Amino acid sequence: MRNLFRLGVLGSGKGSNFVAIADAIAAGKIPAEVAIVLSDVADAGILTHARDRKIPAQFVPPGKFRTKLDEEAERAFVEQLQAAKVDLIVLAGFMRVLKGDFLRAFEGRIVNVHPSLLPSFPGLAAWKQALDQGVKVTGCTVHFVDAGVDSGAIIGQQTVPVLDHDTAESLHQRIHAVEHELYPKCVAAIARGEISVQGRRVIWKK
Ligand code: GAR
Repeated sequence: MRNLFRLGVLGSGKGSNFVAIADAIAAGKIPAEVAIVLSDVADAGILTHARDRKIPAQFVPPGKFRTKLDEEAERAFVEQLQAAKVDLIVLAGFMRVLKGDFLRAFEGRIVNVHPSLLPSFPGLAAWKQALDQGVKVTGCTVHFVDAGVDSGAIIGQQTVPVLDHDTAESLHQRIHAVEHELYPKCVAAIARGEISVQGRRVIWKK
């Protein structure tokens, strides 16, 4: 039997993107399996969603920093992901920046979803940044992860209009909805070997 493409999912929050990907796998839309889910937050919803689906899920203490993993935590994440033999790391609302050893261990094999049309509004609360800036169109981006903040090669983007009556919550909700369409499509294309990377450009072969 052919070995399925194995995903390692990392998240810090409620895990709706993980659910969208797990549902797409269950519906036969992504030729992959989620091998493991890890979180830096002990009571993160993403861990509960994974356990509900009988997927191995674990809290890994992030260590002494607020915005990145410390060395010991980084090692613990890498060890767990290597032991689970993952082919691709899928960041789904993982709110820490990944650094050196982690990136080297999985070079070119880490993807992230971000709630804006990058390179606009990298960093935190991108939907709020969009509202504050007064843009009329925002959206979401799926991209490879490199050493910068939300700066790697762009795999896919989907737009969302900013409406006059939008609040931070209503805009984030509509961005979330398009993330749930775009992220599974991008992960499916990677799992099928349908994309190639040429410098900053990601080419879809189909
Ligand atoms: C998503 O909107 C994702 O784009 C964002 O966190 C949310 C996680 O939601 N990620 C970032 O801002 C990363 N810079 P979820 O836990 O329901 O998937």
